Amino acid sequence: MTARSEIRFVLNDRDITLTDVGASDTLLDFLRIDRRLMGTKEGCAEGDCGACTVLVGRLQDGVLRYEPVNACIRLTASLDACHVVSIEYLSGTDGKLHPVQQAMVDHHGSQCGFCTPGIVMSLYALWMKNPDPTETEIETALQGNLCRCTGYEPIIKAAKAAVTLGSPANDALTLERDAMTARLAELKDGRRVDVSKGASRCILPASVDDLAEVLLDTPDATLVAGATDVGLWVTKFLRDISPVVFLNHLDELRQLTVTEDTIRIGACVSYTDSRAAMAADYPQLGAFWDRIAGWQIRSMGTIGGNIANGSPIGDTPPVLIALGAEITLRKGAARRTMPIEAFFIDYGKQDLATGEFLESITVPRPASTSLYGAYKISKRRDEDISSVCAAFNISVEHGRITNARIAFGGMAATPKRAAHAEAALVGSDWSEASLLKAANALGDDFSPLTDWRASSEYRLQVSRNLFRRFWLEQQDGDAPVRLTA
Ligand code: FES
Ligand code: FES
Repeated sequence: MTARSEIRFVLNDRDITLTDVGASDTLLDFLRIDRRLMGTKEGCAEGDCGACTVLVGRLQDGVLRYEPVNACIRLTASLDACHVVSIEYLSGTDGKLHPVQQAMVDHHGSQCGFCTPGIVMSLYALWMKNPDPTETEIETALQGNLCRCTGYEPIIKAAKAAVTLGSPANDALTLERDAMTARLAELKDGRRVDVSKGASRCILPASVDDLAEVLLDTPDATLVAGATDVGLWVTKFLRDISPVVFLNHLDELRQLTVTEDTIRIGACVSYTDSRAAMAADYPQLGAFWDRIAGWQIRSMGTIGGNIANGSPIGDTPPVLIALGAEITLRKGAARRTMPIEAFFIDYGKQDLATGEFLESITVPRPASTSLYGAYKISKRRDEDISSVCAAFNISVEHGRITNARIAFGGMAATPKRAAHAEAALVGSDWSEASLLKAANALGDDFSPLTDWRASSEYRLQVSRNLFRRFWLEQQDGDAPVRLTA
């Protein structure tokens, strides 16, 4: 089958076909420069402020699903067979404001207005999914939207009031859902896409088998899943990332499979979807997952990307290490599996051969004897990079600690287990004193760096404190360790 040499998607109600698409082209530039749709704003150009929020609908296993994304770092080629919804699509053809927009007007949710289209799009996504949200749900939905002048109280009031002004059942996206599903199914023709602009090349493999082949042929390619990291290489460092191989359209890499013993997470499962999959078994991790970026980034970013980029401060690797996860890598038809901690060799160096890619992550389901906790320390509560991440997985039987897996991010050149602290715990009684003894052993495990996020001393101290916090959280009563409900 020959590759298709055009990207096809739907923008609001228009069919779009692009033959000239470069690897670094962003959706935001396409909207504003190419289409002159100026409602979508550019603030930070790095996925932090939400001014550029749009909805992207995509078929996954035949089901159409819309999610808020940051257009500034969403690469245009990745939109093949998607429906992009910009702020211009919200008001009716008669010019009547959408219920979410009207509620923002009624409750004075906008002053300078620069953030407003992005906030409306996030609230629109929330209203579609959950028209009568709680305050916590609204705040979680708005984590990725900065407003510098109105303040959030009127915006939250607007979010609550939108339900009184209209129902998602009558919304355009609902009414046209079947037709749009059919339209996107037609666009998703199962062919490899290979499109260029000058020397800049984008490849969308037809399947995971095809991906394996493409990477053997194009071993120097940049792999892009959610683009929440690579997008910044483009917008901040102006790097040429061509040729790019896109992954996120591959349903096979977005599968979640729960067996009796394991949760298998495809490499392109988003933070949002993995949270849902893990919540049943690891409810303690929900609050941690909600500290990862904002809703837009959690919709775009993938667990595989968070591992494969090898950052020492990625949020999920310490948790996955503590849980005893394994990863499966693939090159051509050959696969190999390893404990996730073995993947991280040194700063910027992962155990990944040329032409090899991360296919899936397998997380054991919890043992009844195990206690879990995960913590993120950062300067801001929401949407920030961690100074330190810590994850605990401790088995206690008959009052004794029989196993301990404790992993940290931000404390070394890679995400890493705290071997000395673990050794101090195993065989000890389950007590605060044992945890504090283990905390003291951390100095033998880590000599953290000082950088602009935190000093070495702070990192070590706060990491030690987390042992105490973990202990307190495991006790009955109202330990003063949670800042949120
Ligand atoms: Fe700030 Fe895109 S412009 S998130
Ligand atoms: Fe001015 Fe939000 S209304 S930044």
